[in-house]
Amino acid sequence: MAKLKVGIVFGGRSGEHEVSLMSAASVIKFIPREKYDPVLIGITKTGGWLTEGNPWETLRKETAEPGGPPPTALLAGLDVIFPVLHGPYGEDGTIQGLFEMCGVPYVGAGVLASSVGMDKVIMKQVFEASKLPIARYLVVWRHAWRREPAKTGDLIEERLGLPVFVKPANLGSSVGISKARTRKELTAALQLATQYDRKVVVEEYIPCREFECAVLGNDDPAASVIGEIVPHNEFYDYEAKYTDGVSDLIVPAAVPASVQSRVQELAVAAYKAIDCAGMARVDFFMHRESGQVIVNEINTIPGFTNLSMYPRLWEASGLSYPDLIDRLITLAQERFKERARNLV
Ligand SMILES: Nc1ncnc2c1ncn2[C@@H]1O[C@H](COP(=O)(O)OP(=O)(O)O)[C@@H](O)[C@H]1O
Ligand SMILES: [Mg+2]
Repeated sequence: MAKLKVGIVFGGRSGEHEVSLMSAASVIKFIPREKYDPVLIGITKTGGWLTEGNPWETLRKETAEPGGPPPTALLAGLDVIFPVLHGPYGEDGTIQGLFEMCGVPYVGAGVLASSVGMDKVIMKQVFEASKLPIARYLVVWRHAWRREPAKTGDLIEERLGLPVFVKPANLGSSVGISKARTRKELTAALQLATQYDRKVVVEEYIPCREFECAVLGNDDPAASVIGEIVPHNEFYDYEAKYTDGVSDLIVPAAVPASVQSRVQELAVAAYKAIDCAGMARVDFFMHRESGQVIVNEINTIPGFTNLSMYPRLWEASGLSYPDLIDRLITLAQERFKERARNLV
């Protein structure tokens, strides 16, 4: 059988450009070559597309290559596309919309689930509608905060108390996120988060253990064993995520079977709540005192190096990294065929 041409798209405009390059390097290395012919497609930090030569090397060297517009003819000629892009313009439904317009199957969540998963406010609202347990939160709009900072601060203290976590609604990798213990820190945290987004989430602080669960599938998604994140920093911030040795990833997590099955059940429920497809990593907090498990967030394109949590969770569940890539490509094709059955 002829090999399938799989476009691997990496880089991108978000702050997670470098993370994407790392993830893509693993996908390129481990994609089963007997079945698939990888076609490398890079996106620069300014949004230019690179298809000539070795786009991965070009991006890694950070040469000032401008790149071109989206190569729609090339994309449309591929059998499947694997977007290995994190954050805005990669994980948020925008590029998925482009793939839809090109009529090509692609790995992972569709347009809607991608954008719901990217926006922490809408994601929480969808989780609430599905009765999933989440942390108490407030939404702060940049314009309201600028107009009435004192009133905004009072409302947060009154409703949530301190400390709180303050997060821009539409980023990832902990960029712009801080913990505020005092009113002064709250002001600084809102100042920071509103630089990144016009919409900010303020959440009650949960003294917690953090667990992650990998979900894989379309109509009948399956959950992996769960893993635990132990950040050595105060929380799982950018440094803790991407510097070796600053966090421990424990796979599988050392928890009673009842905790694991609760997390797995909620992971699949969260996945279904946003109508996800292909894959997602669902992240949890377990309250240190009450033991209550709450859903923190869903990531539709989780870190994907062979040592990242998502592949490691599947590895520990009996699915190797090359087999995981193979499965995701098959799921992309299945979803495409299933949708082609719609009358219009
Ligand atoms: N409400 C909270 N209580 C305690 N820790 C939190 C809370 N919200 C976030 N954190 C910490 O901040 C990290 C990043 O927050 P998260 O919402 O997962 O943002 P991102 O999308 O950038 O990963 C979490 O992994 C956790 O360590
Ligand atoms: Mg997170």
